[in-house]
Amino acid sequence: MYFDLEPKSSREDLYGFEEELEKLLSLLRGRRAAAPLIRVVGLRRTGKTSLVRTALNESGLPHFTLNGRAFAEAPAIKVRSLLLLLERELNEAIERQKKWRDKFLEVLEGIRWIKVDSKPPWIHFEWERPERELDLLDIVYSLDRVARENRTKFVLFIDEAQEFRKIKGYSLQSLMAYIYDEMRNLQMVVAGSQVGLLHDFLGVHRPDAPLYGRGMAEIRVPRISGERAVDFLTKGFEQAGMSPDRDLVELAVGELDGIMGWLTLFGSRSVERGGPSKDVLRETVEKGAELEVKELENFLQLRRQARQRYLRILKSSVRLRRASWTDLKAGLERDEGRAIADNLFSDLIKNLVKGAFLERDEEGRYFVPDPILSRAIERIRA
Ligand SMILES: Nc1ncnc2c1ncn2[C@@H]1O[C@H](COP(=O)(O)OP(=O)(O)OP(=O)(O)O)[C@@H](O)[C@H]1O
Ligand SMILES: [Mg+2]
Repeated sequence: MYFDLEPKSSREDLYGFEEELEKLLSLLRGRRAAAPLIRVVGLRRTGKTSLVRTALNESGLPHFTLNGRAFAEAPAIKVRSLLLLLERELNEAIERQKKWRDKFLEVLEGIRWIKVDSKPPWIHFEWERPERELDLLDIVYSLDRVARENRTKFVLFIDEAQEFRKIKGYSLQSLMAYIYDEMRNLQMVVAGSQVGLLHDFLGVHRPDAPLYGRGMAEIRVPRISGERAVDFLTKGFEQAGMSPDRDLVELAVGELDGIMGWLTLFGSRSVERGGPSKDVLRETVEKGAELEVKELENFLQLRRQARQRYLRILKSSVRLRRASWTDLKAGLERDEGRAIADNLFSDLIKNLVKGAFLERDEEGRYFVPDPILSRAIERIRA
C-alpha cells in the first residue's frame, strides 16, 4: 500500500523511482569491484531508505543495516552505543533473513566475544570483556567469509551515515576504508539526507580522510514533479477505496510539494479519518512542521554559539523565497546592526547547505528546499 508509513520494502508498494531502483539493483547484482561503495543521497523524506530496502529485498543478497537515525539527537556517540546498535541490528537481520540464519550463526559463533543462542535474541555480545576486545573487524571478517563461501556478496547498509561522524574514539570511516580495500565480498550502501554532512563523513573533499580518493557510485533520489505527486495521491486513495476531489489533491500537492514522506503522511492520515479534507491537510502540515522543528533543533544544538545567526539567515531565506548571498548577508548585518566578515558568513551558509536546510540553485540563489521546513523556520523563535 502506498500510504503505509513505514519505509517501503517491496516494489509493489514503491511508487515510481524505477530508474533509481534499476540502477541500484544492477550495482548490487553486478561485480563488487565495480562499486564497493554506493551512496544514496536526497533531501529528507524523499524515499532513500525505501529505495534501498526495496532493492536489497529484491536482490536476495544477505545484508544488514546500521541506522544512524537513533543518534540524530545525540551530540556525541559512545563506542558502547554503537556496539549496542550493532548487536540489535545483527539480531534483527538474523531473525528476518531465515535463509541465511544458520550460516550467519555458524561464523559468528567462532568469535570469542559473541555468544550464540538457538532462539532470539540470536546473538549476544559479551559486555563483561574489556571494550577493546570487542573488535568489529571480527564481525567484518565473518560476514565476508559467509559471503565468499556462498559465492555471493554481503551488503552493509549504513543509513543516515552522517550521524556516525559523532562517534567518540572510534572511526567507522577507517573500518569502511578497510572494507573497501580488503573485503572482496562486502559491498556498502550509504545513505543520508544531509548530503553535505554525508560527504564530510565520507571525506569526499578531504585528502586526510580515510575514505578519500576512493570511487563511489552515486544515486540521487529527487522529489517528484507536481503531476506525479497528484498521480501518487490519486492511486494511493484508489488503493484505499477512496476517490477524492481533484481540487483537494492539487491543493495538497501545492502545500506538500513532491516530497514522498509528506504526501504519504497526508494519505495515511486521510485514510485514518475516513477521507481527505482541508482539515487533514492542515493537520499534516502541522505534524510535519513539528518534525522539522525537531530536526532543525538537532542541528542548532550542535552549534549553540551561532544559533541566532542561523535562524536569522533561514528566516530571511523564507521571507525572500530566493535570495543571493549578498542579500542574505546584508539582511543579517541589518538584524545585528554590525558588519560580518565574508568568510565567517560563508561558513554559516555552507553549514546550512550541508545540513540540507538551505539549497543553492543554478543562479547561485539560496532557498529553503521544503515548504514544510519553511513553516518550521517561521515558527522557531530566534
Ligand atoms: N517511492 C515511494 N512510494 C511510496 N511511498 C514512499 C516512497 N518513498 C517514500 N515513501 C514513504 O515516504 C516516507 C519517507 O520514506 P523514507 O523513510 O524511505 O525516506 P527517506 O528519504 O529515507 O527519509 P529520511 O530522510 O527521513 O530518512 C515513508 O512513509 C515511506 O513509506
Ligand atoms: Mg531514511
